[in-house]
Amino acid sequence: MKMMLRSLTLLVAGAASALAGFGAKASGRGGGVVTETWNIEWLDAAPDGTARPVIGINGQWPCPPLNVNIGDKVVIHVNNNLGNQTTDIHWHGLFHEGSPHMDGATQVSQCAIPPGRSFTYEFYVNQPGTYWYHAHVGAQYSDGLRGPMIVHDPQDPFIGKYDEEVLLTLSDWYHKESPVLLKQLFDQANVQSRPPLPEAGLINDGQGSTYKFVAGKKYKFRVINLSALTDVILSIDGHLLTIVEVDGVYTQPADAEQINITPGQRYSVIVEAKSDAESNYAINAVFNSNPNLFAPNPQVGFKVNATGAIEYSADFGVPAPTFVDKFNIFDDMWLQPYDLESVLGEPDQQFVMGFNMGLDGEGIPRAFIDGVSYVHQKTPTLYTALTVGEDALSPEVYGQINAKVINSGEIIEIILNNEGQAHHPFHLHGHNFQVLNRAVVGSGAFKGWDEPLPEAPLRRDTIDVYAGASVRIRFRADNPGVWLFHCHLEWHVPMGLTATFIESPLELQKSLSNLPKAHLELCQEQCLPVSGNCAGNRFDHFDLTGAMSPEHVPTEGAIWTNGACGTNGADGTDGEDGADGADGADGADGADGEDGA
Ligand code: C2O
Repeated sequence: MKMMLRSLTLLVAGAASALAGFGAKASGRGGGVVTETWNIEWLDAAPDGTARPVIGINGQWPCPPLNVNIGDKVVIHVNNNLGNQTTDIHWHGLFHEGSPHMDGATQVSQCAIPPGRSFTYEFYVNQPGTYWYHAHVGAQYSDGLRGPMIVHDPQDPFIGKYDEEVLLTLSDWYHKESPVLLKQLFDQANVQSRPPLPEAGLINDGQGSTYKFVAGKKYKFRVINLSALTDVILSIDGHLLTIVEVDGVYTQPADAEQINITPGQRYSVIVEAKSDAESNYAINAVFNSNPNLFAPNPQVGFKVNATGAIEYSADFGVPAPTFVDKFNIFDDMWLQPYDLESVLGEPDQQFVMGFNMGLDGEGIPRAFIDGVSYVHQKTPTLYTALTVGEDALSPEVYGQINAKVINSGEIIEIILNNEGQAHHPFHLHGHNFQVLNRAVVGSGAFKGWDEPLPEAPLRRDTIDVYAGASVRIRFRADNPGVWLFHCHLEWHVPMGLTATFIESPLELQKSLSNLPKAHLELCQEQCLPVSGNCAGNRFDHFDLTGAMSPEHVPTEGAIWTNGACGTNGADGTDGEDGADGADGADGADGADGEDGA
């Protein structure tokens, strides 16, 4: 299947200001409005030949790509028609400047959308490039609720350097639904904390994707890895991939034979058609987990291949899949952003975090950052930041979410030490970051860096951290909000491999003084608090009675259990229902900035 994007349309600037709402920033460009209604529902599909229920949109699966222009306002009405599960939509890679409450992360920027309810996402898009949207509750996107989001840019510096633009999505694929897989994952018998392994690898959510090439033309492929677990090593026989964008950041052009794309990462590559092709060529996608990519003999833990085709002529037949066993993978650390931005200055705050997988006190598999598993709290973290006054500067009030408070204008440095045996792609919401250095597999915790720093370091929003090794990243705190920083392996999210940046909370309290009513109602209907500390305590923000801890992590993902209102809620907090209910009833006031005694 060949997917063509609509051609670029130059838009008239200037209309944006009239559309501003909720304090979201309008940009000077664009000015269009993209409005859609998405009915989220169960469908049947068999992308690898095995039928299973999948979560689609408006009767379609694969979920349709969302195409917008830079500067557009995006309004998506989401109706949860799943019947048995909650849902939400996160816009992966978008900064949400001025609209952090539209980030779509459950129990962070909103409460999940229960079955039968609706919620509207409304935000401006001020960045160009390749993104995607996905559910951010349980491990729900592995059931199919994810799709490309493309932000077209009339000022793309590579316009004119290619003739046509196409999409190429990569995704691992499971035959079982995520609640079943999560139960296995969280089983005490899973002593090695192993994630479930997929049954197949898909290109464009199917098999045998074919792109017709015309001699001499150049094609820009927007490549997105939508996988839950596996990296994909991508190559096209006989053709080079010229990288021009990573994760929404234009790059200086760089030629690659093979690129490795982790879950969450995106690349735009320009591929030049041969002028004298005498055959068709295979597109090779090697889906793998835990590779030691840059060792002399890359070790590939789990592996399945998917094959697509570049077709010059139907007469040449279907190219045979290539068995890829030689690896010459492009190291993304070699990339320079197109703007050649130099290394940000010395950090105002540095956070050193060490992470690992393991078992908790009950013998349940978990992931830990500095010994702490992230756990969703009753009050969405953003709502705590908005309603506890100056206490918002104290990480304690947020509960077990690995909170790090940062302030406007600061340069933030993160040193991330991977203490485990596998690699993990870390993604930051609300920002991208410079990658100053990444150490080789097995090099241990960061001990300083003697080599010169890159002049114009790689900038992206998802970076692979190698097994037993470190990365060092920097970003500027210029986007007030509450932003997750987590491993993008979908199974590691419910396991707790997440930290949370609380960015400029006191500024947020001014700029977002009124959350839309719809946000408050979504929580109140589920007897979840919309103000106060993580447990909804509005009087003593340091009293964490009722806060959520690992034993409250639902092992069935997004399965609807009637929230905290139910008499046998899955979270085991029945005893506190009364108190929560009271918060819910008057929470609308609380969100206006009431910060208790
Ligand atoms: Cu693509 Cu927090 O996610």
